[in-house]
Amino acid sequence: MHGVFGLVPTMGALHDGHASLIKRARRECEHVGVSIFVNPAQFGPAEDLAKYPRSMEKDMALLESLGVDAVWTPSPETVYPPGYQTWISVDDVSKPLEGLIRPGHFRGVSTVVAKLLNIFSPDRVYFGQKDAQQVAVIRRLAADLNFPVDIVVSPTVREIDGLAMSSRNAYLKEDERRAAPALYRALSAAKEVFEAGEKNAGAIRAAVLKTLSTEPLVNVQYVSVSDPDTVEEIHEISGGALLSAAVIIGKTRLIDNVLL
Ligand code: PAJ
Repeated sequence: MHGVFGLVPTMGALHDGHASLIKRARRECEHVGVSIFVNPAQFGPAEDLAKYPRSMEKDMALLESLGVDAVWTPSPETVYPPGYQTWISVDDVSKPLEGLIRPGHFRGVSTVVAKLLNIFSPDRVYFGQKDAQQVAVIRRLAADLNFPVDIVVSPTVREIDGLAMSSRNAYLKEDERRAAPALYRALSAAKEVFEAGEKNAGAIRAAVLKTLSTEPLVNVQYVSVSDPDTVEEIHEISGGALLSAAVIIGKTRLIDNVLL
């Protein structure tokens, strides 16, 4: 195949966040491929694999309208045939935050992304800043295993009220949906505190918690200020930092982040 090939890995239930990655790939690459695979290996036993939203027909129509050249929608048995036993774990960067709450999650992500890179040998692969730790894990994976691919990271696409687009937003009941924008509101308020001169991570996390505490439906799992590459906690911010948080609203888990 001649020309730059860009790959956009997804789990389907496509929304404008996915579309922005695909449109960017379309602008930057001659050929664009999209994978849709709800990867069982990255879901914990108590997680939402069975009820994860699936909308294949709608997704295919969207991909067609975006001018995607190839779509891969493998079955779990194609990706993990009987006897499958090879796993890729990126050590330290997979441990904190999402890794603590979702053990094995990044092992599943790293393995499936490594397989996608081997199968398609893309020149560029596209990810969203929405999943900031995933980006850090994949960067480490690609560097450590010498994958000759450019990793392109695109900004988080949001609803008008600030809520980061996510396939899981579909789980939110009406009152929960009304509460959900508090997450981004809290991160943005804390970013303003940072920009006004506050460099202490504890004070910035406190600013996030203060806003979140005004929303009774929101239960906080973590608020973190970390190094964007290693995801190690930072105490005093000198260079850049990743301010990230995970909350539970009803039964739905939401994550979001901003860069400081
Ligand atoms: P999925 O959640 O479907 O997301 C696919 C890609 O879209 C990821 O890179 C994700 O960060 C990006 N994305 C999701 N919501 C976004 C938003 N609101 N704005 C910008 N980008 C957004 O992430 C996965 O699937 C899987 O872990 C995968 C990488 C496909 C491996 O199975």
